[in-house]
Amino acid sequence: MTASVLKGKTIVLGITGGIAAYKAAALCSRLVQAGADVHVIMTESAVKFIAPLTLQTLSRHHVHTDTFDERDPSAVSHIDLADRADLVVIAPATANILAKMAHGLADDMLSTTVLATTAPVLVAPAMNVHMYAHPAVADNIRLLGQRGVRFVEPGTGQLACGYVGKGRLAEPDEIARAVEACFEERGSLAGRRVLVTAGGTIERIDPVRYITNDSSGKMGIAVAEAARDLGADVTLVATRSVGALPEGVRTVTVESAADMLEAVMDRFDESDIVVKAAAVADYRPVVKHDAKLKKTGGRLVIELEKTADILEEAGRRKTGQFLVGFAAETNDIALYAMDKLRRKNCDLIVANDVTAEGAGFNGDTNAVQLFDEGGLAAEWPVLTKREVGLRLMRLVAERLDARPGKRPDAPSGARDGAGGLAGPKGTVYGEEADS
Ligand code: PMT
Repeated sequence: MTASVLKGKTIVLGITGGIAAYKAAALCSRLVQAGADVHVIMTESAVKFIAPLTLQTLSRHHVHTDTFDERDPSAVSHIDLADRADLVVIAPATANILAKMAHGLADDMLSTTVLATTAPVLVAPAMNVHMYAHPAVADNIRLLGQRGVRFVEPGTGQLACGYVGKGRLAEPDEIARAVEACFEERGSLAGRRVLVTAGGTIERIDPVRYITNDSSGKMGIAVAEAARDLGADVTLVATRSVGALPEGVRTVTVESAADMLEAVMDRFDESDIVVKAAAVADYRPVVKHDAKLKKTGGRLVIELEKTADILEEAGRRKTGQFLVGFAAETNDIALYAMDKLRRKNCDLIVANDVTAEGAGFNGDTNAVQLFDEGGLAAEWPVLTKREVGLRLMRLVAERLDARPGKRPDAPSGARDGAGGLAGPKGTVYGEEADS
């Protein structure tokens, strides 16, 4: 292992109670040799399998076994460790710690630290073959995966319990390689400029009424955060309807499709990657009244005209940009996604069936299919939007790296690491989703 990737990185190594705990010593040693600052947390069961002194000697730090054993009065150790960690690795991870993590239990030093950290978490499970295959464990692993926890799969072979099957802790070298890969990918978009759009546009009828849609901006924000975490220089063009804006990302707030068009085109030429996750109105009122419309006795007809298609315009103008469009569909996903890909000259279309459970507008999860010129390129189950964003940006990074030509150098500052209308009573307006 090269020292460069792990040098100076703070890794919290959690060890839980299984016979494979002895292998954690070798893992700790490899990480320390590669330059990482390793802080070990052992559960009560883990110390029955291997002495904390072994890990203390290898890590050259006090080993944490008790949440209440506070040695430094100036810090709360589980929060301090959680904050300082660049990565939390749990190896071996028992069925018990997986269940605690999946359900948010925090009853010891390790589970509390894991709940308190915002650092990525890598887990190497090890347990009896039947325990590993149990639906409860499988569900917990799936849930944690949806939240972005990474796994190093157990191996198959002779288990300490006498069974032969899947459940053996991955070898320390393999876990160490997975640790290294976590840090390597953080720089995978270094030097790239990424432009992301998020939220539903607002098309005014008068000063207090408008046409909009259900987009919360969560999907676009997740993409922007993922690009940032992979080292990119990110600009987010967000509508004012979106919630908390991400840190470490340049944000431009817009209202209408016309504003968004301008904001995107102003920054398009200098971008390397453009991701259009926003739900842009296809139509806007022909007349935007300066004063509040007064109620009349009869019907009110509002004439609409087409807005500019920002993605299509970007597709016409693109030179080397990697262009990602989204497609919000309710049927014939592949057909419409491929049509949008070609018509708008995109490199990738992320299609979501907005009628499917756990997918589409507003929620914290999405289920997407990705299409490129060859057809279906990937299909992901229901995942958190954060995980969708991360997987998407990883894929874009890989595809850009595979393009011929020079990869940009990382600049010195690069990080490593309800729907419808508030309108006249009884009037329902919506967006025609044919874009
Ligand atoms: O924001 P959330 O609540 O998290 O919800 C996420 C989402 C459902 C909004 C997101 O996953 C999504 O599907 N975004 C695209 C919504 C959409 O407008 O899809 P569309 O099929 O109508 O448009 C296709 C593409 O063209 C999109 O990239 C859209 O940004 C773009 N477009 C559309 C119309 C227009 N006038 N200009 C555009 O650029």
